[in-house]
Amino acid sequence: VTTSRDSGELDPKRLPGHVAIVMDGNGRWAAKQGLSRLKGHDAGAKSVRAAIEACRELGGIRTLTLYAFSTENWRRSKAEVSGLFRLLAKYIRTEMDNLHAEDIRVRFIGRRAGLPENVTALMDDSEKRTNANRAMQVNFAINYGARAEIADAVRSIAEDLRSSKIRPDAIDEAMIAARLYDPVSADLDLLIRTGGHHRLSNFMLWQASYAEIVVTPTLWPDFRKRHLHQAFLDFQERDRNFGGRPRA
Ligand code: FPP
Repeated sequence: VTTSRDSGELDPKRLPGHVAIVMDGNGRWAAKQGLSRLKGHDAGAKSVRAAIEACRELGGIRTLTLYAFSTENWRRSKAEVSGLFRLLAKYIRTEMDNLHAEDIRVRFIGRRAGLPENVTALMDDSEKRTNANRAMQVNFAINYGARAEIADAVRSIAEDLRSSKIRPDAIDEAMIAARLYDPVSADLDLLIRTGGHHRLSNFMLWQASYAEIVVTPTLWPDFRKRHLHQAFLDFQERDRNFGGRPRA
């Protein structure tokens, strides 16, 4: 039998509206070829470009969120951390024209405090420049932690309570969602993790409540359009019931 999966046909009407990727495996990819970890991250930046292009080209993907630097990543060596920020700055400088030309709105989610100033300046500038773009939104999660994000949302609500702007009974899920770093995008439909580990790593805990999860052994620097399409095909085979009864 030929299933839609065998023929590799994606249904353009059932694409995940919000896709997030945990881009793991740069270090292992580099080690396999006897390269430094930074060379692995360098190669990973090319996969970032490929993933954005593939989503943009499909249409139907409203938001793509990429986990680039976690609040836990500070524990890595000084050289790796500063190398990652250098790479990020270079990426923003070289790719922003292209993203803007593609009508892509760029956002950075995570805590700005503690980041190098040249990087936050580039981040602010790209957000301003691409703010009115509408074809797709790309979120780069940098100095991002899901627990920190929820704590920041709770603190902002507490401040409004203290100044009597809101009452406790006004606090609901929608209010919390509206105070997350990206209040605009919908919940995650699909979470992809490369590099084979089955864990969330403090990523999008709130937004991933009903996300489908696809883990691929492919290391991030090897991840290309065909891998993304495969993840979307897997997604389209799932029967999402959001805690309700399976559809007939
Ligand atoms: C995890 O791989 C990856 C990171 C901590 C950094 C992600 C960065 C990039 C993909 C490149 C730059 C990003 C942008 C947005 C240009 P790992 O080092 O933990 O891999 P390992 O598990 O094999 O050690």
